[in-house]
Amino acid sequence: MADKQIVNNDFKDVVFNRQSVRNFDSTVKISHEEFEQMITETTTAPSSCNLQAWHFVIVDTEEGKAKLKQYFMKFNTPQIDTCSAMVLLFGDTDAYKSYRDLWTKAYHNGQIDKAKLDEVFSTFLPLYEHADYDTLVMDSAVDSSLAAMQFMLVARAHGYDTNPIGGYDTTKAAEMFDLDPKRFVPVMAIAVGKTTKDYVPEIKSVRYPVKQVFKFA
Ligand SMILES: Cc1cc2nc3c(=O)[nH]c(=O)nc-3n(C[C@H](O)[C@H](O)[C@H](O)COP(=O)(O)O)c2cc1C
Repeated sequence: MADKQIVNNDFKDVVFNRQSVRNFDSTVKISHEEFEQMITETTTAPSSCNLQAWHFVIVDTEEGKAKLKQYFMKFNTPQIDTCSAMVLLFGDTDAYKSYRDLWTKAYHNGQIDKAKLDEVFSTFLPLYEHADYDTLVMDSAVDSSLAAMQFMLVARAHGYDTNPIGGYDTTKAAEMFDLDPKRFVPVMAIAVGKTTKDYVPEIKSVRYPVKQVFKFA
């Protein structure tokens, strides 16, 4: 696991001090190499049948940000203006089409034996090949949401903060970045950047009393 740029290895701080940041130091650029590393770390997230039905578009140019402003809600403009990048997460409803190649490669690399390969092809794969579109959308949204959370924590470990964003016109998200809207379903955007030194955090967001949200069964 590449950890060259992990600057915060304190689990408690990474997880429990995460909060949505909506204003970043706009002078901070994150290199494409670091993004590649963060996405690599993010995609160790679990996914349904290891389908990995996620797709990332990293918007870090002025041209890309101008596109975001065309379909994001106005209250999300400060994040667009100041973030180092807006990471757009899409569910990939065609992910199962690469599934055969992924597992065949794992077999050829000696990571799984022939029995496991046959099992994957006869159990998991048909589930997706015969799934209706709504199921593929739902599964890809679950996979991508897990990746989203992991990305936010990975970003913290790299010394950045984030704001997950759903306030945008979902009918425009894919086409705006030249993706097939039937295949790629918008799940979330995540603004990522460096919190300014003088950033005044909003009041720590409140949570329901824990007893209200769980039961033993
Ligand atoms: C799916 C999703 C969509 C969200 N959309 C927005 C948004 O459009 N704009 C925004 O400022 N925050 C947005 N948020 C951030 C939430 O308001 C925030 O996570 C919540 O209030 C809890 O605060 P915290 O992140 O600081 O813990 C979104 C969060 C999620 C998970």
